Amino acid sequence: MLCAADSESPSTRTVLDVVAGDGTAAPALPASASRMQPNHQTRHPRMSDPSKLLLAARDVSKSVSGPEGVLDILCGVSLEVRRGESFAIVGASGSGKTTLLGLLAGLDLPSSGQIELDGQALQELDEEARARLRRRLVGFVFQSFHLLPALTAEENVMLPLELERQREARPRASEALAAVGLGARRRHYPAQLSGGEQQRVAIARAFVHGPRVLFADEPTGNLDQRTGEHISELLFTLNRERHTTLVLVTHDQHLAARCTRHMELEAGHRLDAEARVA
Ligand SMILES: Nc1ncnc2c1ncn2[C@@H]1O[C@H](COP(=O)(O)OP(=O)(O)O)[C@@H](O)[C@H]1O
Ligand SMILES: [Mg+2]
Repeated sequence: MLCAADSESPSTRTVLDVVAGDGTAAPALPASASRMQPNHQTRHPRMSDPSKLLLAARDVSKSVSGPEGVLDILCGVSLEVRRGESFAIVGASGSGKTTLLGLLAGLDLPSSGQIELDGQALQELDEEARARLRRRLVGFVFQSFHLLPALTAEENVMLPLELERQREARPRASEALAAVGLGARRRHYPAQLSGGEQQRVAIARAFVHGPRVLFADEPTGNLDQRTGEHISELLFTLNRERHTTLVLVTHDQHLAARCTRHMELEAGHRLDAEARVA
């Protein structure tokens, strides 16, 4: 497949751009959030029913210019994610997973193709409108947590609410931390927390404003197996109990297998059987 090439380079977004939330307060995650439970979601809404689609990418390509010339990172990728689904993006390192996740979350624009998030064509929105849409709909969990080191766990989780001048930021952050089992560590700084605990703070920050879709880039990638299972459980509990749509990048076959559907990338191309359907 021919890949579009242009000179646009991906812009770097700050964590603050991504974590900011809006006024749609969501109900607190039940206390069971941090307990191990299997994901029983099996219903598959019919494909291409627009009312059920939360996310659609059509023929998306991304190219960047560098000293070696143009690099095609993604080539004609299409996909659909329905509301309430859990969707995994798998593939070897360097296959374009993180780039695709950033495009789907509206952090960056494709070189060609279209992405619709909750019925909004991202390429038709200016930077400010995309930021507003992200704040309203999106939670993002970065692979390396991206917590602000000078802020406590609670202050990190308060950020999305404070940036949108929402009330009750502290009690809501505290509630979100309790839901991920870190109620007793609210006043600890990231450096005083283990990797798994930092990831739980990052997840609390990603869902505190009740996003419709939560993107997570290799959420278990830096964690030992047991901690990773705990984090997966937390994500699937959000999916099951709050109907938060999940879009995960993962190397973890168990995690991918738990998702409603998954797709595979290889060198920027979608490989799996659904590639032509989406
Ligand atoms: N801003 C960029 N400039 C140049 N190359 C990039 C940029 N972002 C990603 N790449 C390259 O694109 C390829 C895919 O990267 P990435 O999306 O991070 O893959 P993955 O997450 O699957 O490991 C890699 O070869 C990476 O080096
Ligand atoms: Mg990556």
